[in-house]
Amino acid sequence: MLDVNGITKKHAERFGAEPAVFLAPGRVNLIGEHTDYAGGFVMPAAIDFGTLAAITPRSDGRVVIWSENFNEQVSHQLEGLPKNGGGHWSGYPLGVVKILREAGFAVPPFSLTVQGDVPLGAGLSSSASIEVATALAALSLAGANPEREAIAKLCQRAENVYVGASCGIMDQFIACRGAENHALLLDCRSLEYRLAPIPVNISLVIANTMVKHAIAGGEYGIRRGEVEEGTEILRSHRPEIKLLRDATTKDLERWGAEMPDNVLRRCRHIITENLRTVAAADALAAGNLKRLGDLMAAAHASYRDDFEASCEEADAMVEAAQQLPGLIGARLTGGGFGGCTVNLVHAELAEDFVARLHDTYRATTGIDAEIYRCHASAAAHAV
Ligand code: GLA
Repeated sequence: MLDVNGITKKHAERFGAEPAVFLAPGRVNLIGEHTDYAGGFVMPAAIDFGTLAAITPRSDGRVVIWSENFNEQVSHQLEGLPKNGGGHWSGYPLGVVKILREAGFAVPPFSLTVQGDVPLGAGLSSSASIEVATALAALSLAGANPEREAIAKLCQRAENVYVGASCGIMDQFIACRGAENHALLLDCRSLEYRLAPIPVNISLVIANTMVKHAIAGGEYGIRRGEVEEGTEILRSHRPEIKLLRDATTKDLERWGAEMPDNVLRRCRHIITENLRTVAAADALAAGNLKRLGDLMAAAHASYRDDFEASCEEADAMVEAAQQLPGLIGARLTGGGFGGCTVNLVHAELAEDFVARLHDTYRATTGIDAEIYRCHASAAAHAV
């Protein structure tokens, strides 16, 4: 659990000064998976798991970061930060500092304490939440207040070039621009977005399969490569296709035969997922929950069969949910290959839904899942 008073006190004891504290949320994606780096559409919501960052300036030229979660401290000369994240947790905050400074923000030496409660490797964006919390903290010391879009892009850049994970913009963007009780439909190319209210009678149930995924690991990058391969083939026929977002199902019908079968299916997932995501935002806005649920089911099937980014446990969790009273829609959320499913559930049935989902999943897989009832939360802010 996040504890603002606790982190303030611990930071003051460890570093001898009262900190400014910032919070950035994790996220759950309702629909639109692996579409962000193809310039397409996503519809995430910020959630009430997040990361706190407490900061004070230092006068010895160093950056000292203490992690409450790892019970570990790192310390570097600000002018001599490591060249990359090296697979260590500190790569996320250090990468942000490095990128902010390269972008011209005068981040001074500082002490930082971080504490988060986003389950790690669960597809709920613990990484973006520590990046954005660190960015707000560091920018406050630099006396700078850039647009949220710029902060999201800088954090994504830190993850791409410093941590070495080739993620898109979704996670950092929703941490920067989410809104309480709203999902956010984002056009990942223009960064235009629209908020869609989530009615109070819908519960956001997040079910952790307990199978860990790592986006710095192989499969995410392989999928990106396959998507780029397909995009290039389509571009050779229609040069205006800069990103797969620009291609249509017609393009795929015409030229898909030139692609290896796996590449064709990855592209089909993305092209149809973009259509589903915009349709889902419309359905949510119109209160058409049946349609919303159908689109989520189709998105899961496409993620499983065409994109091949699901796993047995996630499929079992979705299938279990689909048998239960109260479900509106369920699918695997996030980068894939494990992590969590997102379930939209009629609020009055949510308690029973959670208990029964837990039991059915355990009966099928033998795994004791953690199931969280979340609510769509605000963007990153000072606390
Ligand atoms: C991870 C990445 C995002 C996005 C999703 C898949 O969360 O960080 O940029 O690509 O996977 O939709």
